[in-house]
Amino acid sequence: MARPSTPQDSGLTHRGPATPVVTVDGPSGVGKGLVTRWLAQRLPGWHRLDSGALYRILALAAHRRGIDLHDAGAVAALAPALDIRFAGMTEDDEAILVGGEDWTHDVRKESTGALASLIAAAPAVRAALLQRQKDFRRAPGLIADGRDMGTIVFPDAVLKIFMDASPEERALRRLKQLSEKGIKATLAPLCEEIRARDERDRNRAIAPLKPADDAEVVDTTGLSPQDVLSKVEALLQRHRLA
Ligand code: DC
Repeated sequence: MARPSTPQDSGLTHRGPATPVVTVDGPSGVGKGLVTRWLAQRLPGWHRLDSGALYRILALAAHRRGIDLHDAGAVAALAPALDIRFAGMTEDDEAILVGGEDWTHDVRKESTGALASLIAAAPAVRAALLQRQKDFRRAPGLIADGRDMGTIVFPDAVLKIFMDASPEERALRRLKQLSEKGIKATLAPLCEEIRARDERDRNRAIAPLKPADDAEVVDTTGLSPQDVLSKVEALLQRHRLA
């Protein structure tokens, strides 16, 4: 027999009162962008949160103001006042506006990703961005990607996808992606950078990169984009979201 729902229950199922969330977590270069953009088409009207972009923007904002990125308190203090707007649906028409200025190109640089990874290890920084991330949860639903979407930010998500792939394969994919955007890079340092970022993201004391206990793990090594999307489609069906 169904029992009445309690405040603790709310949001635990997509039939519940809370806005449903689908989370897509995984390491750098694993293809989260492909999956989240596809999900946005598959779940019309749902909002998107690219949480990595928030860490990147905050790192860049601090760097531009000459703030020492190891000074977590000073970095975190910048977070509440940052005026951030995301526009565009595809990789090609994406626009990231900060204080009305177009930061898209600089936010997407590898060097900015490394700065983001550095500040992301600080509890004060994570705490400062937590509510901003939760605020993206609006009807009819949210697709959130990052590292700790399923474990920390949206633990009541209706579907938690955790993507993984070998560092070598991710470096190759990232190289292709960057060259398509006209950003110059070479494979060996990219691979090194990915390994170093993995190491930091997986081993940090707070909110480390790992699958939630109830996550659906999708290993994309050796899979084509179409294969990956077929797996995600199967997950949508299984979780009755499609
Ligand atoms: O996904 P990305 O490459 O844009 O993320 C940049 C860095 O931000 C990543 O190396 C770790 C950090 N990050 C995080 O710690 N937690 C998130 N939810 C998203 C990103």
